[in-house]
Amino acid sequence: MTQDELKRKTAEAAIEYVKDVAIVGVGTGSTVNHFIDCLAENKSYLEGAVSSSEMTTERLKKLGIPVLDLNSVGELEVYVDGADEINPHKQLIKGGGGALTREKIVAAASRKFICIADQSKQVDILGKFPLPIEVIPMAQSYVAREMVKLGGQPELREGFTSDNGNPIIDVHNMDILDPLELEKTINNIAGVVTVGIFAIHKADLVLIATEDEIISF
Ligand code: A5P
Repeated sequence: MTQDELKRKTAEAAIEYVKDVAIVGVGTGSTVNHFIDCLAENKSYLEGAVSSSEMTTERLKKLGIPVLDLNSVGELEVYVDGADEINPHKQLIKGGGGALTREKIVAAASRKFICIADQSKQVDILGKFPLPIEVIPMAQSYVAREMVKLGGQPELREGFTSDNGNPIIDVHNMDILDPLELEKTINNIAGVVTVGIFAIHKADLVLIATEDEIISF
């Protein structure tokens, strides 16, 4: 099976959890794109979706799924999204696609966060994947210096601006032994909009597609 086929497989598995949900929170990325396709094929109960990015919004609309404003729907029952790394505690690194801020908002506003991925995303310790941090433009250098103090090697994501109009710094070589603490520490740096550690709002359920099965934990 190719990696793309594994992504489709985990997306199909997630559909089982949203079949009777009226409003679904939808993440961003190539795995979620498969989930959106599956959602479009199983939308008898669906009233609409809350989107985490412009890219997702465009795909949802193209497939005839109404996109709803988070402010008008209250708490969401379920949010489905991918990840760049997943540890055994269901803590994640996200933001490879740059949508981390809206993803974190929709995850926080949902009762259940289902994370879908192929097996390449599983790690013991988070941090091999460069940690994305969305920052206010004028704080870019300051935040980068603070990340050096925390042991990382920050690099500006060249030519990229988030849906919110901000730059992203990718921090290399972080060994994230305590994701919860590090998320809080980075959240407290002035100028940080969102750090791509999802430990405060970690996944509630992880669905990993392998050749033979769907591993859930
Ligand atoms: C988007 O900003 C990310 O958080 C994605 O959820 C993550 O990068 C996973 O993307 P893929 O499914 O494309 O690997």
